Amino acid sequence: MTPHDFQISPERLPELLCAMPKAELHMHIEGSLEPELIFALAQRNGVTLPYASVEDLRQAYAFTNLQSFLDIYYAGASVLLKEQDFYDMAWAYLERAAADNVVRTEMFFDPQTHTARGVDVKVVIDGLHRACVDAEARLGVSAALILCFLRHLSEEEAFETLEQALPYRDKFIGVGLDSSEVGHPPEKFAKVFARCRELGLHLVAHAGEEGPPAYVWSALDVLKVERVDHGVQSAKDPALMARLAKDRIPLTVCPLSNLKLCVFPDLKAHNLKTLLDAGLVATVNSDDPAYFGGYMNENFLQTFAATGLTAQHAWQLAANSFEGSFIDDAAKARYMGRLNETFARFAA
Ligand code: HPA
Ligand code: ZN
Repeated sequence: MTPHDFQISPERLPELLCAMPKAELHMHIEGSLEPELIFALAQRNGVTLPYASVEDLRQAYAFTNLQSFLDIYYAGASVLLKEQDFYDMAWAYLERAAADNVVRTEMFFDPQTHTARGVDVKVVIDGLHRACVDAEARLGVSAALILCFLRHLSEEEAFETLEQALPYRDKFIGVGLDSSEVGHPPEKFAKVFARCRELGLHLVAHAGEEGPPAYVWSALDVLKVERVDHGVQSAKDPALMARLAKDRIPLTVCPLSNLKLCVFPDLKAHNLKTLLDAGLVATVNSDDPAYFGGYMNENFLQTFAATGLTAQHAWQLAANSFEGSFIDDAAKARYMGRLNETFARFAA
């Protein structure tokens, strides 16, 4: 069954966007820390924050670019110390994901943000992984972890982080690259990604969020990533667009993040439709939902309302999210069956 078989009235599109099963492929678990939980954990752990109240902290969420966000994001993560803190953070996100009909999520985490404060990587991974196991059993959400290297730090530090994490290799499925993009091109991490590839880890990297198409090319050709996180700047380079379409490289697009970090002046100007109509495997994701004004369904609802995407695009985005995920083909086929059932129900 293809989506062309369905006639869905535009009035029912918002309800369909919420109801359809989907995978989230780009979210930073530290970016799901809501101000209320930041303050609760600060109190529990005796950490002093440079903000007087939840309202005061929320007021600071007026970003002008990626770096202005990262400064506050790393400050927020400073309240995380114990295994239970990491569990509580991940559990709060997983409950929200389940409510948005996210059936599969591949969550980024930043070990260096925590090891720099003296927290053992075991504490980080154990807490997050325990929440992933519980999500499957109690929420029916399949959840996995992707370890990100901070690109403003050195490749040597990335290697040290990999060494520290390898005893827990069975608890994460891949590695990524995040933090300040411009001035830190993918090729800075060529050796550590080559090592991770030998280890059989999945490979992804942020590229083309604020950085140029050249960074997307080197993520593909030097790091050999399987997905590109963001990648929206690719639209500036027709040869790159052709490459991404030909090789079916998923782009994990984050519309509300792009809006809040001023990558596009407004959602109407977002290029998601251009990427989809060019045949790219584009997906919708929340990035740092506590900071950017919404979780998965809010990203879908606001983007569709602003850009005039259709039910056909909705089906394509959900299908792309399963195609781009690191689950096996049998699981992909099961999720596609559920997606088509949902569309059939709305067409009736
Ligand atoms: N880009 C880069 N690094 C990040 C992001 C992002 O959107 N979110 C958290 N770390
Ligand atoms: Zn991101």
